[in-house]
Amino acid sequence: MNTEKVTVDEQQILNEIFDGLNQIQKKLPSKYFYDEKGSQLFDQICRLDEYYLTRTEMMILKNNVDQIAECFGDDSIFIEYGSGSSLKSRILLKNIKNLSGYVPIDISTEHLQSTAASLNERYPDLDIYPVAADYTKKIEIPDIKKTVKRRMGFFPGSTLGNFLPEEAREFLAVVADELGENGGLIIGIDLRKDKEILEAAYNDKKGITAQFNFNILHHLNDQFGFNFNVNAFKHYAPFNEEHSRIEMHLVSSEEQTVKCRNEVFHFAKWETILTEYSHKYTMEAFQNIIAGLFEIDKIWTDEKNYFAVLYLKTVL
Ligand code: TRP
Repeated sequence: MNTEKVTVDEQQILNEIFDGLNQIQKKLPSKYFYDEKGSQLFDQICRLDEYYLTRTEMMILKNNVDQIAECFGDDSIFIEYGSGSSLKSRILLKNIKNLSGYVPIDISTEHLQSTAASLNERYPDLDIYPVAADYTKKIEIPDIKKTVKRRMGFFPGSTLGNFLPEEAREFLAVVADELGENGGLIIGIDLRKDKEILEAAYNDKKGITAQFNFNILHHLNDQFGFNFNVNAFKHYAPFNEEHSRIEMHLVSSEEQTVKCRNEVFHFAKWETILTEYSHKYTMEAFQNIIAGLFEIDKIWTDEKNYFAVLYLKTVL
């Protein structure tokens, strides 16, 4: 257990977590999925048979790479929101002509440095400007050595769907402002489809998504000294038809209390902690989110219409 003196920063972080656990619907910030173990589990999720998202998006990008690369035009910079290992952007990077720079933004400094190093080896002519930051906040775009005619953003993975619609709109407003006049955004979104297919994607047979969900509790135990009994929680991820979203919960299978520092949290039997939303869009719902910020210029999809990659232009 962690008995060190609590710093102001740490107290702020803890307060955010405590606040979530004190709501009527208990919640935890989804960023706590991603410690090293969580990132590994997430990579495994992306390769699951049931998890069609990553595979489908990669295929759409590959099948349409010439057209997508053409959208960038000459002398653009390519800003990626949450670049991770830049696996998806690699497909585009080698096909965009006269790119003035690649600006990967990621919260994990380590991940960012190692990815930038490996990209640099693979594409020695590409100027890379890594930015270690929380991409949901406005960032300062670094000074680019070459001429920049326009800014292009990239936001794959249907990560937009992890925000509530109002938050998604606020985030896109920040992005539109950053991309500026004549800016463009390539975005991947998961489309609404049969409940069975959606629920299978978040309730895989191997139980990897369940492990990923439990990892948030392990992470809080390890990093902040919570005493969650992870075995007393179950993974629950139903599709909510009304809000068109998968809701990931951890269900307390018994009445229990959990402690951290001086705080005590009580769980009734079957009470849940909400850990993540994943919204599934109709084109109409997506249009509503971007209205007044971006216009749809092009849409690429797969033959089953499971996922869409769109080229948006800023409306300014
Ligand atoms: N944005 C992806 C999705 O909604 C990735 C993701 C976020 C995810 N949280 C998740 C995938 C939890 C599986 C489980 O699918």
